[in-house]
Amino acid sequence: MPMRVAVLGSGRGSNLEALLRHCEAGTVAARVTLVVSNKRSAGCLEIARKHDVPAVLALPKRKGESATEYDVRLLEVLQAEAPDLIVLAGYMRILSPAVVHAFEGRIINIHPSLLPAFAGASGAADAWAAGARIAGCTSHIVTAELDAGPMLLQAALAVRPNDNAEALARRILRLEHLVLPRTVQLWAEGAITIEGNKAHIAAPDSWLHHPEIEPVAGVLYSEGF
Ligand code: GRF
Repeated sequence: MPMRVAVLGSGRGSNLEALLRHCEAGTVAARVTLVVSNKRSAGCLEIARKHDVPAVLALPKRKGESATEYDVRLLEVLQAEAPDLIVLAGYMRILSPAVVHAFEGRIINIHPSLLPAFAGASGAADAWAAGARIAGCTSHIVTAELDAGPMLLQAALAVRPNDNAEALARRILRLEHLVLPRTVQLWAEGAITIEGNKAHIAAPDSWLHHPEIEPVAGVLYSEGF
């Protein structure tokens, strides 16, 4: 039985699609069984349907509903599905402590900056605006504190003189499409252990020379330890 993954998203869904492709290709030993979006028109729902994800759900916030009330409904959906792992892939809401604690240590997020720098809703654009010379993405465990849980994988690239915020975000996104599936695969292999605020990764192989990572100029990527 492959590991069962639930994905939460709010938008386009390119990270979800990258994960689904790897699952379908067998490079990630997992199955996405549920996709939930807080946005009715989110592209990630369309992508989930296209890839025959068994349960695809739009769960928009009701009028006057508080974030805590919304998360009670979300938690019911997640508990009914009982996934092994929850992946936040462009999920633009902050999970309430109740959801985080119900799936303690089993929720991961992909973030478009080299954490702990540039946490928050617009990591790539913030790195650009701050004049960062090196940028990238981070997969991490979700805790009650925003973008602050133990870091899992990071990939970095050099900012180019002719980049702008959009171009930089696009190049970082290509790294995310590798880092997120790879993180899920390491999880499925049982290669990740958490000690305090640090993750240890013991993987027999690496995606360092993965054909998708090489075309991104100046990339820095490390796995293991
Ligand atoms: C990604 O950059 C992700 O890191 C951020 O939101 C974006 C989502 O893109 N949290 P997509 O919906 O996966 O295409």
